[in-house]
Amino acid sequence: MFVILALCWQILATKALEEAIFDPLAYVDPLIGASNGGNVFPGASLPYGMTKAVADTNSSSNQGGFTLDGAFVTGFSGMHDSGTGGNPSLGNFPLFPFTNCPEGDINRCEFPKISRAAHGGFSSNTVTAKPGMFAITLNNGIRADMTTTHHTSLFRFTFPTLGSDGEPAQPLILQDLTDLANSRQDNGNVAVDPETGRITGSACFLPSFGSGNFVLHFCTDFRGADVLDSGIFVNSRASTVVHNLTISRSINGYPLPGGAFMRFNSGAEPILVRTANSFISVEQACKHAETEIPDFDFERVSEAATEIWREKLSPIKVSPVGVQGSLLTNFYSGIYRTMINPQNYTGENPRWKSSEPYFDSFYYCRMSLNKGFTQGGSNADNVLADTFIKGIKDGIDWEDGYAAVVKDAEVEPYDWCCEGRGGLDSWKTLGYVPVEDFDYKGFGTMTRSISRTLEYAYNDFCISQIAHGLGHTADRDKYLESSNNWKNLFRPDQTSCRWNGTNTGFTGFFQPRYLNRTWGCQNPLNCSNLDNYSACSLQTTGSETFESSIWEYNFFVPHNQATLLTLLGGPAAFTARLDYLHNNNITYIGNEPSFLTIFQYHYSGRPALSSLRAHSYIPAYFRPTPDGLPGNDDSGAMGSFVAFAMMGLFPNPGQNVYLITPPFFEEVNITSPVTGKTARVRNVGFDAGYKNVYIQSATLDGEAYNKSWVDHSFFTEGKELVLVLGERESAWGTGVEDLPPSLGDNCNSGKEPE
Ligand SMILES: *[C@@H]1O[C@H](CO)[C@@H](O)[C@H](O)[C@H]1NC(C)=O
Ligand SMILES: *[C@@H]1O[C@H](CO)[C@@H](O)[C@H](O)[C@H]1NC(C)=O
Ligand SMILES: *[C@@H]1O[C@H](CO)[C@@H](O)[C@H](O)[C@H]1NC(C)=O
Ligand SMILES: *[C@@H]1O[C@H](CO)[C@@H](O)[C@H](O)[C@H]1NC(C)=O
Ligand SMILES: *[C@@H]1O[C@H](CO)[C@@H](O)[C@H](O)[C@H]1NC(C)=O
Ligand SMILES: *[C@@H]1O[C@H](CO)[C@@H](O)[C@H](O)[C@H]1NC(C)=O
Ligand SMILES: *[C@@H]1O[C@H](CO)[C@@H](O)[C@H](O)[C@H]1NC(C)=O
Ligand SMILES: *[C@@H]1O[C@H](CO)[C@@H](O)[C@H](O)[C@H]1NC(C)=O
Ligand SMILES: *[C@@H]1O[C@H](CO)[C@@H](O)[C@H](O)[C@H]1NC(C)=O
Ligand SMILES: *[C@@H]1O[C@H](CO)[C@@H](O)[C@H](O)[C@H]1NC(C)=O
Repeated sequence: MFVILALCWQILATKALEEAIFDPLAYVDPLIGASNGGNVFPGASLPYGMTKAVADTNSSSNQGGFTLDGAFVTGFSGMHDSGTGGNPSLGNFPLFPFTNCPEGDINRCEFPKISRAAHGGFSSNTVTAKPGMFAITLNNGIRADMTTTHHTSLFRFTFPTLGSDGEPAQPLILQDLTDLANSRQDNGNVAVDPETGRITGSACFLPSFGSGNFVLHFCTDFRGADVLDSGIFVNSRASTVVHNLTISRSINGYPLPGGAFMRFNSGAEPILVRTANSFISVEQACKHAETEIPDFDFERVSEAATEIWREKLSPIKVSPVGVQGSLLTNFYSGIYRTMINPQNYTGENPRWKSSEPYFDSFYYCRMSLNKGFTQGGSNADNVLADTFIKGIKDGIDWEDGYAAVVKDAEVEPYDWCCEGRGGLDSWKTLGYVPVEDFDYKGFGTMTRSISRTLEYAYNDFCISQIAHGLGHTADRDKYLESSNNWKNLFRPDQTSCRWNGTNTGFTGFFQPRYLNRTWGCQNPLNCSNLDNYSACSLQTTGSETFESSIWEYNFFVPHNQATLLTLLGGPAAFTARLDYLHNNNITYIGNEPSFLTIFQYHYSGRPALSSLRAHSYIPAYFRPTPDGLPGNDDSGAMGSFVAFAMMGLFPNPGQNVYLITPPFFEEVNITSPVTGKTARVRNVGFDAGYKNVYIQSATLDGEAYNKSWVDHSFFTEGKELVLVLGERESAWGTGVEDLPPSLGDNCNSGKEPE
């Protein structure tokens, strides 16, 4: 009995020790990307949590609430998105604390966001950010700690003994009806109950990158001090007599400031503020608050949040041996950021009734209950295909899923700004989206004809894979056929010159084409990272490629690299183009069109160069510092790039393919949440100085393995990949039979090793 107990203890103790040695949370820094346009949400959230608490600043970037760029705190709010581009998102109903109002006069507290910012100065060394919690101390001595549950934020404000006027603290905490983008529409309302001290309200706002609007509700309660008085404010004037307010947007663009406040007798003890949100009703917000945090117990809530994060990050374990801590932080923080968005709004969607899960804050698809602006094709098709081919079938009606992707391909929406595809008549009759299309059936921004053609072609390939899996063979063949449409915009004799006339020496690029099938013209370098002038995003004057150049889109045929390779002159020429793209700063790693180009050397039989390229970007362009991200994190996209690249298994999304490069760690274990099995990648001959980044040979589950890729069963079946590394490029992964799968004739052999 004692022996058994002792043994059990020993096992537990060993386990505890292992966990003490390796805690993934020790390597998460939520502040990565909190300045320099990363726009991350650096505050307190649960994985996929709807509520996200942080201090909001008046930065002029499109921040996810908080920034470390010298901006001032204007409030503390509980709704955010992460890494957005177009506009700052959410940040609704911020709270703001004052230690007292000078001479006890409420009208001398500065209520409007613009003027109260002057009280929101802080020094960055007072900021603490950890998964599930965030804390900051303002220069005026007020400290704010915050944590969350799924729909509820808990703030703890600690006040100095005296206010700025030297009088004893008599804290006032306001809550107003603004958001980060100042998008509030008409008829916001707020009420404060003088008996219970509860503040409730609702207002209508705009989504940050989509059409439509949404109504959000809140419910706020206080604990920790006796209430002195309460009331509402409009603009810079307040009253303790009036307790309800309905407010106009007003006419000058900036919504008229308005909200409610509570004032307390004493600031001796911290004041806890619990505020919950709901898209359904004030009642539902209050219910969330009461059920999720009945006790106002800050330590309990923050410890629970931390534990949920630890559990969520623990399926991926890397060996820290020899590796710089900063690389571990880069890796785990990247994974962490992929779980900030999307957000789980199940039970919070007023737009339709369903018992299905509902996730929001997908930036290419939906945000804040509305349709987001699509940027090219109907790329949800790719996501669905990716899920389908990786075997995620439980509880999913795939015939419904299939009907949705077919509708994208077949039915042009009247308003294709935000769903489906435009130009479908032309696409079907001509086999490409023409520049200056004639489209009278649906309406959207008539630009991006090249990148839309390339994306539609890939979307159709993705659809064909689902059709194949479901046994719809006629559809499979049809969409496989139209997945070849990218060829229709390839102009074999197209050259590429710099703007000063110097020829890059490469021939064969995509070009725009008119309805009458004659060629249009876009300089292949336009909209590259070197182009300072062209409009390349969703502007009506935008180019024929979205947010990148023809040079880069020239590689965007993810399903048919074999044929593309042949068109571009074979493996050596393909490799030379990739090198030119990267070596001349034509591509920019801070935006998604670049991601796959790091690893496309695999398709020309040079997986060693993918590895070399990954190391040229990480950590040079991804540093674990607030200014360390090269662009908006885009809902965790930059985070996912870092995580996959460092793990050494980079997906070609929409296909059952992960391209193999040596992990940045000696060993990586990944436990599948579906099967519970653990996949393992082990580097033999690992050196943390990254001289040995070339695979010499490999085994998969003990058998020699020469292919440069694995499929998803690697994860679900818990396979083991052992990579023997060396200082020189080898023959590994270079044979025709080793290349990742592709349509077309895969007759492109790899290069002969030197
Ligand atoms: C932020 O607020 C501070 C303090 O009032 C002010 O000096 C600064 O100009 C504001 N920044 C912006 C971008 O509005
Ligand atoms: C003020 O708001 C509260 C809470 O919404 C409501 O119960 C009350 O009837 C309102 N009072 C007035 C005068 O509108
Ligand atoms: C990976 O799993 C193996 C087998 O369970 C174990 O021996 C090894 O220590 C694990 N490595 C890491 C980094 O957790
Ligand atoms: C999403 O939220 C619902 C309702 O709160 C919850 O039941 C479900 O477990 C959540 N799902 C995930 C994946 O977090
Ligand atoms: C054009 O620009 C490229 C890149 O900056 C440079 O290498 C080349 O010498 C320039 N050519 C002329 C003719 O100025
Ligand atoms: C085709 O259309 C373009 C754009 O309208 C026009 O400039 C061009 O002259 C036309 N070519 C022919 C051969 O009709
Ligand atoms: C390329 O961009 C330059 C600079 O914006 C512009 O002047 C030129 O018209 C564009 N050329 C083509 C062919 O698209
Ligand atoms: C674009 O701007 C950068 C930085 O100002 C400059 O070095 C470069 O020469 C410009 N490129 C062109 C093509 O004008
Ligand atoms: C590419 O950009 C980097 C960083 O801005 C710079 O150091 C490098 O010189 C550039 N390379 C070329 C070929 O322009
Ligand atoms: C892998 O490549 C090696 C070296 O070219 C060769 O000897 C071996 O037969 C190949 N193994 C497999 C499984 O293809």
